[in-house]
Order: sequence, then C-alpha cells, then structure tokens
Amino acid sequence: MLEDLVRQNRSYRRFEQQVPVGLDTLRSLVDLARLSASGANLQPLKYILVTDRDACAEISPQLGWAAYLKDWPGPAEGERPAAYILILGDREIRKEFGVDPGIAAQSIMLGAAELGLGGCMIASINRQALRASLSIPEHLEILLCLALGKPQETVVIEPVGRDGDIRYYRDADGVHHVPKRSLDKLIWKSI
Ligand SMILES: Cc1cc2nc3c(=O)[nH]c(=O)nc-3n(C[C@H](O)[C@H](O)[C@H](O)COP(=O)(O)O)c2cc1C
Repeated sequence: MLEDLVRQNRSYRRFEQQVPVGLDTLRSLVDLARLSASGANLQPLKYILVTDRDACAEISPQLGWAAYLKDWPGPAEGERPAAYILILGDREIRKEFGVDPGIAAQSIMLGAAELGLGGCMIASINRQALRASLSIPEHLEILLCLALGKPQETVVIEPVGRDGDIRYYRDADGVHHVPKRSLDKLIWKSI
C-alpha cells in the first residue's frame, strides 16, 4: 500500500556501508523521476549517479547532516551511504526549477524504500567543493543530493508534543525520533 511505503520512507542517515547499491538500481530509480511530473513538461533535471567508493568518500564530507543533532558530525566510516544521486538543474533548459527536484526526489526515495533501501534528501551541500571534485559544469545547478544505502538505524514518527517542538532527536538507544504535526493542525479548513 502507498501509505505503508510513505511511512517506511523516513530520512535515514546511517547505513550498512559495505552493502553495495548498484548503478542499475540507481538508473531504475532515476527512471521513476523521469516519469514524474515536471512544470511545463520541460524536464530540466539532470542526474549524477555515484557508487564508486572513492567518489562516495569525496561527497560525504561536503554534506550537512542532521543540523538538529548538534553533537553528531554525520555518519562515520562504515555507516556512510553506499551511493548517491545528485539532482542537478540544467540552466540551458530553465533558469528556475520550482518543485521539480522535490517531486523527482520523492519518486526516487519511494522507489528506494520499495527495494528495502533508504536514504536522505540533502540540500545542505558545499556546492563549490562538490562542483570542483565531480567536475560539474557551471550550467548545471546543484539542487539536491540523495544519500542512499541499506539503513542501519531505526526511525520512528512521533506526534509533536504540547511544546510544539518539531526538532528530531536521537534517544539513548540511538533511535531517531521525528515529530510530525497532527493532520488537524495541517488542514486549515475543509469546505
Ligand atoms: C528539501 C529537503 C532538504 C533537506 N536537507 C537536509 C540536509 O541538508 N541534511 C539532512 O540531514 N537532512 C535533510 N533533509 C531531511 C529532513 O531533515 C527530514 O525530511 C526531516 O527531518 C523529517 O524526517 P523524515 O524525512 O523522516 O520525515 C532535507 C529534507 C528535505 C525535504
């Protein structure tokens, strides 16, 4: 069921790094993005698929992980993503990319969840460094980085408490908790 997949599709930031994710898998995930909606059907997104160990090692330090977890600098060696999909916007096709990258990212992440994989959409990127290390030309804007792998952490959804705090947190057992606002708080009105 779609609801099961959406519930399973949490942001995971720790992985079984030694479990590979193949290029064929990444291609099949990008194919889901290819089939998704695009403003004016301009399809301005481009993708870089990364499974190579050395390339993965170059990407990881250029990402900002879990800003609310102040004492956690990001995944350590052994728990890093096994693959990445970079979502780029081709400025030769369009100057603004609207919600296209979000739609593409969600299609990819749902597809990954269906395969038993998981990951995290990351917008906090040292773009200059990443552009240099992957030789990304200037006309391709770096929009999002999707970290992917076999998750090695438990993530649970919680209701937002009375204090209204939406910050995710990790408990003493390493379980990651994500507060979600209630449906009634989201629906402004029903007419
Ligand atoms: C557009 C976007 C950008 C994000 N950027 C980052 C990021 O830079 N670093 C990170 O660790 N998580 C990032 N996330 C993941 C969010 O923190 C995560 O979606 C949120 O905590 C809710 O958790 P959930 O995805 O499990 O529902 C991003 C998510 C979205 C949708």
